[in-house]
Amino acid sequence: MLWLQIFAVIVFALYFFVLRPRRGGKDAPPLVLESPVFPIPVIGVIMEFFKSPNTMVKRCYRDYGPVFTIPIFTERLTFLMGPEAQSVFFKSNDDQLTQQGVYDFMKPVFGPEVVYDAPKKKRQVQFQSMANGLRATRLKGYVAKIEEETRRYLRQEWGDEPGQLDLLKSLSELTILTASRCLHGEDVRKSLFKEVEALYKDLDHGLLPYTPFWPDAPTPAHRRRNWARKEMVALFSKVIKERRENPSNSDGTDILSLFMETKYKDGTPVTDEQMTGLMIALLFAGQHTSCLSSTWTSLFMADDPTMVDRMIKEQEQVLDGDMSKPLDYETVGRMEFLQNCMTEALRMCPTFIMLIRKALVNLPVTVTRGGEKATYVIPIGDQVVVSPTASMRMKETFPNPDTFDPDRYAPGREEHKIPYAYLGFGGGLHSCMGQNFAYMQVKTVLSILFREYEIERVAPTDFPSCAYEDMVVGPKEQCIIKYKKRVYKDA
Ligand code: HEM
Repeated sequence: MLWLQIFAVIVFALYFFVLRPRRGGKDAPPLVLESPVFPIPVIGVIMEFFKSPNTMVKRCYRDYGPVFTIPIFTERLTFLMGPEAQSVFFKSNDDQLTQQGVYDFMKPVFGPEVVYDAPKKKRQVQFQSMANGLRATRLKGYVAKIEEETRRYLRQEWGDEPGQLDLLKSLSELTILTASRCLHGEDVRKSLFKEVEALYKDLDHGLLPYTPFWPDAPTPAHRRRNWARKEMVALFSKVIKERRENPSNSDGTDILSLFMETKYKDGTPVTDEQMTGLMIALLFAGQHTSCLSSTWTSLFMADDPTMVDRMIKEQEQVLDGDMSKPLDYETVGRMEFLQNCMTEALRMCPTFIMLIRKALVNLPVTVTRGGEKATYVIPIGDQVVVSPTASMRMKETFPNPDTFDPDRYAPGREEHKIPYAYLGFGGGLHSCMGQNFAYMQVKTVLSILFREYEIERVAPTDFPSCAYEDMVVGPKEQCIIKYKKRVYKDA
């Protein structure tokens, strides 16, 4: 009989401490307690969420409206859907909705006291320094460097003869080359690129689905990640030391140079380990996101010859008819159609399925449902979530949401200008700092690629689907393309 009692206590404890949905108070948003997909009490909702968070969020929006809470074990995830509800997420400050705690699992990658792990005053200086490094004035000098890297890469890897390759893999190799040149500087790009690239891969492969829940799990991937960070610190410390001795090693335009001059408010310098962490953080923020954006944009355009024709016409126009003219920042800025294509690719396939903050206060949110206003109070401790993936496919905000339509951003329509509707780069206080860099980098690469080559998708047969289970969402399948050199009629 005793074993039965022990079993009952274990089951009750499991339910009470791990599975029991936490109620949020009388004005809290509706709590999702049932799942039509898995009609099993308590765990059905959790199973539905892990099966496909994206599909579940869309289902809950239909069933519960723009604000609802999904209980996942002891956590409550409160979703805000649509511009009205999302405005609360983006207008709140760090004392109301915080990122701290949410990204703790990145500490072994970035290192101690870097970005989210740094105390508030240090974090502000670090973010300010990153923002300075990504200002338009600095970006101007990057276009020529990205053009040089892109032309060299295409010459070496694609060549003059027709061929076939995995577009995502190729654009990933090219993106890290261009990012390293701009962010790390000439010396790192010239003599240490292979080491940086290999260490970055080890850091990246150390981010696994279980990492957010157990960042220090003693697995081979985590051990390799920890080793790679230490090696990266050693590598950058050497570069910093050599630059201090020979300032001419860098032309001073890269972001590492800027970090080397940065001091905290009390006058202490940013340490070599922190500088390395900041470089890693920038690479993580920009590598997958930019390479996936260029891949999706290319795939959407390649599937519709009218898009490529319009893009090529725009190139002729901004380059004054000289298709081999070197690019500069102003010219890239004039490529509005290409910009709209990238914006639209990111709307249809955003890189993040969820942006998350933790509520530090009871947060009221007023929304309209069925013509009626309703106010809910999100309780302290909730994980508050917006989903770019689900919300940018809402037909109320983006008509015909499943159609690739870059003209929705053109004058007269400008659907992205509805406040807090377009979430490709987040929004509010923590919107993407690298947005201008990313547009400049992706547009420069695609401008050259599409002027030089005609591309056609070979596999998969249908348009690739999104791998929503990945931390940064890319195509699920390999994207094999055929390419051949573009021939101009009067060439
Ligand atoms: C197409 C490429 C990119 C996309 C789609 C993208 C997307 C985003 C999004 C959605 C956020 C908001 C995250 C949140 O609210 O939790 C974000 C933040 C950020 N991004 Fe990007 N990003 C891109 C490229 C870059 C690049 C190239 C850099 C830097 C080199 C960068 C640096 C940052 C930083 C530092 C933040 C944090 C801002 C903060 O917390 O205050 N991003 N990005």
